[in-house]
Amino acid sequence: MKERKEENLKKTGTDDPFYNQNGKEKKKKKKTRKDRLKTTPPKNQKKQVVKTHDMNEDKMKWVSFQLAPFHQSAETEIFFIVEIAHGVKSQAENNEPTPYPKAIVLWILAHIYWPTRSSGFRTRQSRAKMRSIPEMALGSTGKAIPLVGMGTAVYPFAPSETMIDSILTAIELGYRHFDSAALYQSEKPLGEAIKKAVELGLIKSRDELFITSKLWCSDAHHDRVLPALQNTLKNLQLDYLDLYLIHWPVSLKPGKYELPVNKDDLLPIDLGSVWKAMEDCQKLGLTKAIGVSNFSCKKLEELLQTASILPAVNQVEMNPLWQQKKLREFCAEKGIHITAYSPLGAKGTLWGTDRVMECEVLKEIARETGKSIAQVCLRWVYEEGVSLLVKSFNKERMKQNLEIFDWELSAQDLEKIIQIPQFKGFPGVEFVCQTGPYKSLVDLWDGEI
Ligand SMILES: NC(=O)c1ccc[n+]([C@@H]2O[C@H](COP(=O)([O-])OP(=O)(O)OC[C@H]3O[C@@H](n4cnc5c(N)ncnc54)[C@H](OP(=O)(O)O)[C@@H]3O)[C@@H](O)[C@H]2O)c1
Repeated sequence: MKERKEENLKKTGTDDPFYNQNGKEKKKKKKTRKDRLKTTPPKNQKKQVVKTHDMNEDKMKWVSFQLAPFHQSAETEIFFIVEIAHGVKSQAENNEPTPYPKAIVLWILAHIYWPTRSSGFRTRQSRAKMRSIPEMALGSTGKAIPLVGMGTAVYPFAPSETMIDSILTAIELGYRHFDSAALYQSEKPLGEAIKKAVELGLIKSRDELFITSKLWCSDAHHDRVLPALQNTLKNLQLDYLDLYLIHWPVSLKPGKYELPVNKDDLLPIDLGSVWKAMEDCQKLGLTKAIGVSNFSCKKLEELLQTASILPAVNQVEMNPLWQQKKLREFCAEKGIHITAYSPLGAKGTLWGTDRVMECEVLKEIARETGKSIAQVCLRWVYEEGVSLLVKSFNKERMKQNLEIFDWELSAQDLEKIIQIPQFKGFPGVEFVCQTGPYKSLVDLWDGEI
């Protein structure tokens, strides 16, 4: 190959595979079927391209067809633009009258025609199909929280590739809020997925997303908060979070990230000093907002006594079987936004039960409205004016979980749901023991159970 190139260079003074020194097109080698497949434009585009022939056309055609499927990356975009500019310039130098149509044709091929034909990669068209999710302003942070978000807690932990693919699919479908935690081992795959989503052009930048993560109990000590957040950001390959939460009102001896926890490691949390460190993280710009999770009214009261920044969010279990009426009223009064986790009762997970999805009242409403039980649950949470996180790695269910914005539950349906006997699916028995800070579930939830 190398010798052939040198021989060619000697004969023609150029090593360009298509043209010799005086600009004349070389006699082309007979094309094989494989070559034709590589370079032949689709039938309805052929006429347009072949008409405007100049010395760089074959090269440009080749470049456009080879690069079109990868156009979502900035490097190839720039490379392609340079190629077009080069072609336009050479047309102008050869005094060809209208250099622009060819550039336009190539741009259309690369940006619209090829992307819509190719199946394996994500397109601008899929952006158009995605659902837009309503948002709600988050206190004084200036940031709005999408009212439906995707959970990433799975146990046993999902392989990275599954998680990355699911998150990319979710972004394509329109999800913008992703909930992670140091405990879930989902920060790294989430970070990879965000990077890929930008590369693929699904989002312009990370700023289009709302990313939440949480401080695990073993880091719920004043001096460990900042390093824990820095580690989370490193895992996510991000400069900032949108929301950082204290995962539970509990401390554990440092070092482990596991649930169930070793009950001998349970320690009382020094709420004032941990919250102070959370405030410092927000002041450093490492997170736009800070908040808590699994906090009762009483624990929030305690926190508010010393806080200089109010918690923006309290993320708690909420679904038709655990409606959190009292906590919601308290938070509304204090300006703390509620995010509902396990809106489907975390069916099929280690920490959840089937009770929500098997509830007869919900089944009946689902039959009457022609919606799924999951949609009835999610719509109810949404109508209560809070945001929610739902986890599914199944594309159809992810889609279904977003189809809750263009219909309503009737007053009778709402009345039936209010009457459902209450049952907390994830009481947190893991954090209760005779030698720890909470001797009973009543202690842990301050009677709100
Ligand atoms: N702060 C906390 O302490 C805390 C605690 C728990 C959860 N969370 C967060 O909240 C997120 C959501 O809660 P969660 O995962 O506990 O429970 P969830 O969203 O109520 O339920 C998840 C389960 O429901 C299934 N599912 C999803 N959509 C469905 C549908 N349309 N029809 C039937 N089944 C469906 C999922 O399976 P498929 O994947 O197979 O669809 C999965 O097994 C978590 O992932 C996590 O990010 C936070």
